[in-house]
Formats: sequence, structure tokens, C-alpha cells
Amino acid sequence: MKIVHTIADLRAALRGCSSPAFVPTMGNLHDGHLALVRQAKALGDVTVASIFVNRLQFLPHEDFGTYPRTLEADCTKLAAENCDLVFAPSEAELYPEPQTFKVHPPAEVADILEGYYRPGFFVGVSTVVMKLFACVFSQATGPRYALFGQKDYQQLMVIRRMVQQFALPIEVIGGPTLRADDGLALSSRNGYLNAGERQEAVHLSRTLQAMAQALRSGGDHAPAELEAQAMETLRQRGWQPDYMVARRRSDLQLPQGNEPLVVLGAARLGSTRLIDNLEV
Ligand code: PAJ
Repeated sequence: MKIVHTIADLRAALRGCSSPAFVPTMGNLHDGHLALVRQAKALGDVTVASIFVNRLQFLPHEDFGTYPRTLEADCTKLAAENCDLVFAPSEAELYPEPQTFKVHPPAEVADILEGYYRPGFFVGVSTVVMKLFACVFSQATGPRYALFGQKDYQQLMVIRRMVQQFALPIEVIGGPTLRADDGLALSSRNGYLNAGERQEAVHLSRTLQAMAQALRSGGDHAPAELEAQAMETLRQRGWQPDYMVARRRSDLQLPQGNEPLVVLGAARLGSTRLIDNLEV
């Protein structure tokens, strides 16, 4: 496995590769990330992972400074998965001057849910993903694949739409959410939880499951009622929920009729903000 830190070295290493399968990450890798790498292995002729904690997608009060940076351990895990190439640029390499050209996704997908509670988040994500795509795929001649987890459901939707609207010749592939034995979705931010919080953390997915179950069984619950109930359940358990909602899978707007739904939630436990979702 080759590890490169500059765009020039990345492109040199990719010379002659026609069909990269790319997994962008912010590092501190867990099985959810590695499952995407495994999926990628089966697709292209070269598997590329990037590790870059992207300042553009953090608000000033968020955890950019403390986000776990574990490059060496990450590379060991990637090598064990037979990843071919790791791109781990410094900030000065990826943003040598302030990144003033940015990708602005439309409000209807980017200013709701995560984007409402983290203004500018999807501008930061879209901009870095566009730039990483330019670094990784510029010389490819065959099918190009980019893999993202369903754990970040809205992010996957935003990236799919960006790729479609810019006619990027990239196939975006979603991977299922990997969970701990108790059901907690794996996340680099789980490492912030103390032992008590870690035990409690499973209740985000449990509450989403209860919402999904109630929606599945039909009954006479209006989604708004279920959402309010879910918020209250979490509050009583000591969480500070941002949202617990049932939305259409296709565009994350309010359900109208009989469309396929997804329930999504974001909540803080102590100072750790967790997100999760479940297709109904
Ligand atoms: P990061 O949080 O490191 O996640 C990298 C990829 O792993 C994302 O596609 C995410 O959805 C996926 N992932 C995270 N937890 C997962 C789990 N439990 N199961 C399956 N997949 C999981 O998402 C980002 O980084 C950044 O926003 C990025 C796209 C790299 C842009 O900076």
C-alpha cells in the first residue's frame, strides 16, 4: 500500500490506473469505513482512500481541533484491507490558499436537518469532495466509483445530486451502516463518549427503531406525533435532540402519501453530537 501526501504524488501513483474506486474519509477509521473499502475493492482496478479532516465543514464551535487524528493506525487498518493507495494531504496541500471557490448545494437539500443545525456543513462537504474527486479521478479513463456510507444519509444524497448536476462521470455507491453489537452506529465521534454515555448511546438507534416500527405498523400515529414522542423520549433520558423525523427517502422532504420513508435523528449526549438513521 502506498501512502502519498501531495496531489502530484497521488496523480503519479494513479498513472496507468483506469478505474479508481475511492473512499473519502476524515480518518480515525472503524469498521464502517473499512466496509466501504472492502466494497471498493470489488469495483475498480485501484482502491484509493483519503484521510483529511476538512476544516471547511466544521463550525467555529465544533470539534475540528479535537477530531481524532490517527494516521498511523488508520494506515495499518487500510493495509490489512489491501487498500492500494492512501491520500493524506496536509491542509496546506489541499488548501494552499483560502478555498474561496465553493460548491453551494441548493437550500432544499442542504439547509434542512444537518444543514439547518450545522449551517454551511454541506458547502464544506461538497467543496472538499469535489476537490478530492478532481485529485483522484483526473486521469481515469474507465468507470470511476466513489463510496459513501448511508450512516450520513443526507450527505450521500447531496453528493449524488452534485455528481448528477455537474455531470461528473462518477458512479456514487452507498454502503450500509455498520453498528456495534448493541446497535449503536459506528462513528469516530463515539470515542468522545465516557462509559456511562456509551451505554446510553444505543438509545438513539432504539428510538429511531421505535419510530420506524410505529410507521411500519401503520396505526393512527401522525408522523409529527411520533417525532414529538421521540424527541421527548430522548430528552427524558438526558439527551438534547436536534431532530427526530420521518422523511421521504427520495429528497428528505415531508412525506405526502405512501412513499418510502427514512427516519433520521441527531442528538447530543453530554457534549457529543451523534446522528443516525433507519430506512422504514
Ligand atoms: P467520515 O465521517 O470519516 O466518514 C467517511 C465515510 O464513512 C462516509 O461516507 C461515512 O458515511 C462513512 N461511514 C461513517 N460511519 C459509518 C458506519 N457506521 N457505517 C458505514 N459507513 C460509515 O463523512 C465524512 O467523513 C466527510 O464528510 C467526508 C465525506 C470525508 C468529506 O470530508
